[in-house]
This record gives sequence, structure tokens and C-alpha cells, in this order.
Amino acid sequence: MFPTTTYTARRERLRKDVGSSIILILGNNEAPMNYRANTYHFRQDSNFLYFFGLDQPNLASVLDVDAGEDIIFGDELTMEDVVWTGPLPTIAEQAQNIGVAKTLPFNMLGDFVKKAVAQGRPIHFTPPYRHDNMILLSDMLGQPVAKLKENASEVLIRAIVAQRSYKSAEEIAEMERAVDISGAMHVAVMKATAAGKKEAELAGIAAGIATGMGGALAYGIIMSVQGQVLHNHHHYNTLQSGQLLLGDHGAETHLHYAGDLTRTCPVDKKFTDRQRDIYNLVLDAEVSAIESLKPGLPYLDVHLAAARRMSEGLKSLGLMKGDLDEAVAQGAHALFFPHGLGHQIGLDVHDMEDLGEDFVGYSDEIKRSKLFGTAYLRLGRTLEPGFVLTVEPGLYFIPELMDQWEAEGKFTDFINYGALKDWRNFGGIRIEDNILVTEDGHRILGKPVPKTVEEVEALRG
Ligand code: GLY
Ligand code: MN
Repeated sequence: MFPTTTYTARRERLRKDVGSSIILILGNNEAPMNYRANTYHFRQDSNFLYFFGLDQPNLASVLDVDAGEDIIFGDELTMEDVVWTGPLPTIAEQAQNIGVAKTLPFNMLGDFVKKAVAQGRPIHFTPPYRHDNMILLSDMLGQPVAKLKENASEVLIRAIVAQRSYKSAEEIAEMERAVDISGAMHVAVMKATAAGKKEAELAGIAAGIATGMGGALAYGIIMSVQGQVLHNHHHYNTLQSGQLLLGDHGAETHLHYAGDLTRTCPVDKKFTDRQRDIYNLVLDAEVSAIESLKPGLPYLDVHLAAARRMSEGLKSLGLMKGDLDEAVAQGAHALFFPHGLGHQIGLDVHDMEDLGEDFVGYSDEIKRSKLFGTAYLRLGRTLEPGFVLTVEPGLYFIPELMDQWEAEGKFTDFINYGALKDWRNFGGIRIEDNILVTEDGHRILGKPVPKTVEEVEALRG
């Protein structure tokens, strides 16, 4: 955990920004996998971690802003709990470590909240995403589950985003560790890649390193020879000569700060000419996007510049044509680059996505595009020092999308459908790093992970 003062200062700022009433932040509980006692890997809620740091299930917190008092609700372990899961410090001792003097049994939370509701005091809560917490909130607040998302407190959401978007030195050090573990996962996978292996074997190597180095997976592993399927969590293909392997995986540290890296390498020792061409277009877009990062620059512009740059490359290969400014303005590049250039990263791999992407990634001045492709950009707002974000351009050949657009006669001024016929089995390439925006520019987090064609081929031996 960070020092006590980190948590007390975060809560003090939160109380000040919210101003009055009650802030309710629920921790997460164990989630049953196939029966109650066989649970998924426990992951604490990131807002709870940020303000209270306590990493165990069945806790909740209240910040009574009017009384200037924080309370942790939780139950002491029974002897049966100790026998099965081991001893822990008391709730009061744990609360003291994070500067909270008052603790109450969990079952007093309902009475506390119901009394406040009866007194007409507003309860600020974040949009719930776990079903058990939805039911608990619905019961305590007397609101239907279906209304909880829209009734969540915008004041609280904005106050949390206003803190968590700016990473402190201690958070950045933790994120460097997350990226280093993630980098070790990628190096090991690229070294082990070989025709005849299953994607699952390589996913296993990545997962083993994440846990072996003291962390956990920050999100579901993408390890696929079908890289054009963007969030492909299927790992049962056998690698074949001539294919590309796209690996998008990262670790979170034991304090739960995430890394999110992507590398693409040939199953053979070397890229084919065609693979090298596309790889270098993606690499060039990634490196130039990173080089451009500095405070004051809207990330939407960085995204569009990367799309423009990759479109130029595709034009030089005869796959796109026409006026590329117009092509990007109309969204034609999204046939090949149908996702956003990146997102904020921190305690969550898509940081604070539970609070609502537009609160995190957009502003009054910069609104989300409605165009296919650009609409998936999670971060469009102007960059500020302390932001940590991903840069992850990619180029993909998605046969289903190519067929649909061609049949609809879409963007025929910009796309050379005829030339695409023998690219249907290419797959996809993405390259991703994690970047801190500094006062005067940027810094790539973690030790460098091989990414030029030469570096990747050297690793492939
Ligand atoms: N790492 C997966 C994503 O950024 O969506
Ligand atoms: Mn990412």
C-alpha cells in the first residue's frame, strides 16, 4: 500500500470537490464462478482501492462530507473464516493504516444509508457494474436497479476523474513496474512463438509471468493468429508458418496498476515482404504518434493524424486511393483501422471506464465522433501532464467488413476493393505502448520492448 497520507489526502480532496452530503463507495465481493464457494479471481473496485487501499472483499465506505468523517463498514473474521482462509488484521487496524478512525459492522450500512435517504440527504454513488452491488444499492436507496446508472452522481464522477486522471510519482513508479512485467510477458512469448504450437501455450506463458512476477493479468489475454478479430479471447488455433501472431496482454501489479502492451510477430523467424510493409506502416504511425505527445494536444488530433499516416501508406501499396484528408474525414480508413488510438490507463486498463467513457476521455470542447471507427476512440480530450495513456494503432484485414462495404458500394472513391482480394487472409497488426504525458512532452513507461522489424526478428532468432 501507499503511505497513509496518500489515502487521507485523496479523500480530503474528494470531500472538498463534492462539497456536501454523503459519498458511498462500495468495495467488491467474491463472485461465484459455478457455485458460491468456487469464486473468480478477486478484484477490488478501483475507486475503493484509490481512496481506501484495502484489498479484500465485503467492505464498503462512506465519506460523510458534512460531518467530515469517513467510515469503513466490514465484518471481523469468524473463527471459521480464520480456519479456512487464515487470520487478518482487524477491520479497525486496517482502517487505521489508511487514516480511518471509525469502523462499523457491514449490516449497519443499510441503516446508515436508509436514514440519510429519509433525512433527504443526497447520496453520491458511482455507476455500479457488479450485480450484487446493484441489488444492495437498489435496496438501500429504494431505487430500481434499472435507474441506478442514470442516478449515479455526476458530481462524484467528475471529482474522481479530476483526481485519478493525473498520476502521482508513486503511481507512475507502480505503473513502470506493471509495464516491465508486461514487457517480460511479451519478450517470452515472442521468443517461444513457433509453428505447430497452440495459441493457448503462449497465452499460458504470458499468464505465468504475470502471476510469477507478483501480479495478475490486467485483462483477458489476446493471443491470436486471427489478429483482425480485435478482442479475440479464443486461444485454440495452432500457429502455422506464414501467419502473424498478435499478442495484446498486460499485467497489473499487486497494487493493481495496469500495463497494456501489444506486439505482433511472425510465426516464422522473419516477416514476409507484405507483412513487413504493413508492420512498418503501423510502427511508423505508433512512433510518430508517441513523438508528438505533449500537453495541450487533443488526443483526437493524434488519432486522426495516425489514421492519415497509415492511409498514406495504404495508398502507396495500392489499397487506398483518392483524397486522403477527405477519406479520413469521412471515416474510410476505418476499414483497416476500426478502433481508437488509445485510452487512459491506471488502476484500470481502460482507466475509470466504469465511471463513463465520455467523462474520462472527452470534454466540453471535444466531443466523441459518431463515425464508425473514430467513435471507438476512448480518449479524445486535450492532453495534460500526469496523464498516462496507450498508443496502439493497428491495421487489419477483416474479410466480413470488406465484403459488406464492397457490397454496399461504400467509399469506392477511397478504397481499392479489387486490390484487396488477395489480402483476405492477412490477419492484423497492432503495436502498443504506455506513455506518460510530462510537463514538456512525454515518456514511454517501462523498459523498451523490441518493436522494430530488426528487433523483433532478432528475438525470433
Ligand atoms: N488491451 C485491450 C484494449 O485496450 O482494449
Ligand atoms: Mn489498450
